[in-house]
Amino acid sequence: MTVPTHVAIIMDGNGRWAAQKGWPRIKGHKAGVQVVERILEAASDAGVRHLSLYAFSTENWKRPPLEVGALMALLRMYLRMLVHQLARKGIRFHHLGALQGMPTGVQADMRALEEATAKNTGMTFHLAVNYGSRLELAQAARRCVEDGLSAEEINETSLGARLWTAGIPDVDLLIRTSGEHRISNFLLWQSAYAELYMTDLLWPDFSPADLRAALEDYTQRERRFGGI
Ligand code: IPE
Ligand code: IPE
Ligand code: MG
Repeated sequence: MTVPTHVAIIMDGNGRWAAQKGWPRIKGHKAGVQVVERILEAASDAGVRHLSLYAFSTENWKRPPLEVGALMALLRMYLRMLVHQLARKGIRFHHLGALQGMPTGVQADMRALEEATAKNTGMTFHLAVNYGSRLELAQAARRCVEDGLSAEEINETSLGARLWTAGIPDVDLLIRTSGEHRISNFLLWQSAYAELYMTDLLWPDFSPADLRAALEDYTQRERRFGGI
């Protein structure tokens, strides 16, 4: 079985999962966090080297303040708890997204977890919070200018090196839950040749067996990258 090096997941459907049960949306987010723990472990066990999870987009700030506040509080609780699980599995943590614009407590927790896991040599877990591909590309362009690059020096390599994903291989497999067939501003550049896998399952119902089914599906794909 060919294991994709980089798996990215758009974890969608927490709100609908809760609504189906007549519960407030935040209960769906709480259930979603528990699924993250299991999927982390399953991906690491399967031999995935990079796992990128989309937790909060630059557009998600549009949600009601009560939901945003609850999500940020949940995130901080989760980040603090995560250090033990990551240590056990030798997983390195990396934040994907703009630090600026997030509550300072979240910024500090992100940095602390990156530092605490920097020496781990297993899978890298990229958590996308306050992430948007368009913002990432715009800031990479700005950095090219700040670094004094000439027009001729701006190319796929120099721009790619200024993305938050610098040094990380492109996405091989992009999974989205909840039955939506869209990318929602996630890793647009990095997914240029990713295999897409959409499932109707809502994120809180997504299990390690479902991840393994997606990995299995990936092995059946024929990737061409524009060749023959
Ligand atoms: C995904 O679940 C998690 C976040 C975007 C924070 P949603 O909250 O988008 O759930 P639905 O799509 O409304 O069901
Ligand atoms: C995408 O889900 C963002 C995350 C999973 C964090 P959304 O629920 O925000 O996406 P749309 O609005 O349905 O496209
Ligand atoms: Mg959604």
